[in-house]
Amino acid sequence: MTETLRDPKVVRVLTRLNQHNVETFEETLSQDTWSNDPFAFEKVPLSVTSEIGELIYLTARAARINRAVDFATSVGASLIYLAAAVRDNGGGLVIGSELVPAKVEEARRNVREAGLLDYVEIREGDARETLADVGGPIDYATVDGFQATDNEWIGASGTSLALDVLKLLTPQLRSGAVLVNDNAEPDYVAYVRDPENGFRSSWIPLLAQPSEETRRKLTESLERRPVGSPLTTLLPEVPGLELSVRD
Ligand SMILES: C[S@@+](CC[C@H](N)C(=O)[O-])C[C@H]1O[C@@H](n2cnc3c(N)ncnc32)[C@H](O)[C@@H]1O
Repeated sequence: MTETLRDPKVVRVLTRLNQHNVETFEETLSQDTWSNDPFAFEKVPLSVTSEIGELIYLTARAARINRAVDFATSVGASLIYLAAAVRDNGGGLVIGSELVPAKVEEARRNVREAGLLDYVEIREGDARETLADVGGPIDYATVDGFQATDNEWIGASGTSLALDVLKLLTPQLRSGAVLVNDNAEPDYVAYVRDPENGFRSSWIPLLAQPSEETRRKLTESLERRPVGSPLTTLLPEVPGLELSVRD
């Protein structure tokens, strides 16, 4: 077996995670308000879609990564795509970070079931602390710590969590390191697109994975929100990701 994503154990776990993600996301959409407390989403994975997972795997293979950071891990979808790439690149480590202990436990179970535990370390706690030193140059990082309400996408620091973590990781990135971010926090996107900060970066649109029904509910849900609501910015109409490369 040279390609881990074809391993039946990995296929089984990712298929289950994807299905569960779509179902719970639909339920979450039916709520009228969002919380910015990660513990309110303990049972909602908010995982990357399978299209984004594929793109993560392919770009991670192409960049020949051996050390990656997964912010944040939730129940392990992006972590498994990264671990599969690391394994297929000859070995290495993916360092996951997750605040909610129940999600850390579930992610570990999923990674174990996929047979990828040897390539993974999950750090429990606030990524702004746990990722301060990942022990070597980072080849690849996901920046996906969703945090937004209808009124607020910035944290107490005055910046998004995504930008806070990006700044923590930047000195640890190797030249040519790849970053992916699918929430498009405006201050993060502005930062990676400013040439002064040493990245090349673009939004890569991807086909929507949700069903027609889910898209209809999503559109209705977004239409009920105030004009200019940060949440509408964070759920771009055209799904995709901000792909960045470190100079
Ligand atoms: C969009 S989900 C991540 C999905 C994941 N990348 C995947 O594909 O399954 C965002 C996660 O960020 C976690 N989170 C929020 N704030 C955090 C923080 N300060 N440190 C670590 N994790 C955090 C949440 O608990 C949530 O599980």
